[in-house]
Amino acid sequence: MPKTRKYDTIIIGAGLAGLYVASNMPKDKKVLVLCKDIPWECNTFYAQGGIVTALDENDIEPHVQDTLAAGAYHNLKEAVEVMSKDSIAIRKDFIERGMEFDKSEAGELLFTKEAAHSTSRILHAGGDATGRYMHMFLMEQNKHKLQKNSLVYDLLIENGRCYGVRLMQNYLPETLYANSVVIASGGVGSLYQYNTNSRTVSADIHGICVEKGIELKDMEFMQFHPTVFVNTPFARKLLLTEALRGEGAWIVDEDGKRFLFDYDERGELASRDIVSRSIFLYKRETGKKVYLDFSMFEPKWFAKRFPNITKTFQALGYNLPKDRVEISPAFHYANGGIACDLEGRVPGIKGLYVAGEAARTGVHGANRLASNSLLEGAVFAKRCADAILKDDNCWDKEPTFDKDYDTQLHEENDKEYKHKLREIMWKDVGIVRTKNGLLEAKNFIYDTKSKKIGRLLELRLNTAAAIVMSALRREESLGSHYIENEKE
Ligand code: SIN
Repeated sequence: MPKTRKYDTIIIGAGLAGLYVASNMPKDKKVLVLCKDIPWECNTFYAQGGIVTALDENDIEPHVQDTLAAGAYHNLKEAVEVMSKDSIAIRKDFIERGMEFDKSEAGELLFTKEAAHSTSRILHAGGDATGRYMHMFLMEQNKHKLQKNSLVYDLLIENGRCYGVRLMQNYLPETLYANSVVIASGGVGSLYQYNTNSRTVSADIHGICVEKGIELKDMEFMQFHPTVFVNTPFARKLLLTEALRGEGAWIVDEDGKRFLFDYDERGELASRDIVSRSIFLYKRETGKKVYLDFSMFEPKWFAKRFPNITKTFQALGYNLPKDRVEISPAFHYANGGIACDLEGRVPGIKGLYVAGEAARTGVHGANRLASNSLLEGAVFAKRCADAILKDDNCWDKEPTFDKDYDTQLHEENDKEYKHKLREIMWKDVGIVRTKNGLLEAKNFIYDTKSKKIGRLLELRLNTAAAIVMSALRREESLGSHYIENEKE
């Protein structure tokens, strides 16, 4: 017999957004944080560069403008304004709780710059380990129950209300009820052959939303990070933070040419979509390899400012900053996601909320500005927690939910189809798309859906279909959605 329990709030995901929702819920509330694997297998843990905060009231407008320009003005301006205004309170909150961001010897907070920012306004911690430090800090502060190895495979939704979740914990099925459920499960990284994401980020909950008729928005806008070391056998490819370029690193070809200026006058500091696409097109046109060059940095300074990158690449045989590293763009972040209001409520489903990368708040538009993701996660997680405490979500009696999938999560050939899906998403739904490529991807997805497959693959395919269909609907290029005319 499966176990059942009821909570005030269940939070799906233990990254920054999930943990920050939890940290803003009073201790006397019965809150459960569900973590799919082990807590540090989340995208927050791997975030290197930092967290943006407006420097002061005068910097709100410039931050809003930078975010809108990077987002190709497809952003929801009201959401961007909320995020930037709230950023100052968020910084204060983390610092007052005891989070240590990097400081100068004089004890001043150090702000760095990344591409497409008009000023240095990005806080960092542990040099190049901001996400890891913030995650560890929130884990240490967490006062609510956190349950590991809990893979959610269904949301219990009936008549416009969410009642809870079904999950596998350590291969045993569980049904958990709650007055409110928060989706903070991250993005869609595992859909792509080359990606920088944690292996746990596999679009399952987005896929459940598709199945339940919950709207996913802006799904054509997938973000590709320009500087990733992809020559490793592991699924998660190694990010080389944008802060490297913010501090002055160059992107060069094998002859040392800084070719990015042929594409955009801002060179290495153009927005992420432009830099990724330029690298992709340059490689295709010239057949040359592309590198990140750090040789301008003083070694001692570099090792202190980028300690994790220095050590990680040392283990791979590189001597940074002397050696250059071959790079490629790779999938990094879903700008689109589950539609919600500015307090994380999922329209039409009472008791269901979303925060973090899983959410489409509208702040990122067609392309996210560097280091706005941890900020968005924190700002809207706080607003989501406030909304949950304000909304009346209580219910007495749950309906009967007959359908269960616990014995059908995987089927024999899933691995092979998953692999093929990842290749197709990279090739046809990647940095440069064509209508024919998108149609081929669509055919593969629907063909695979008609086979005998497990539920988890079905959910991935649902999300992949949402990305492809959004991309097909948008016939003109915008931001990170670049569609090439077949005759070009
Ligand atoms: C990076 O450090 O380049 C990633 C930060 C981000 O995704 O904004």
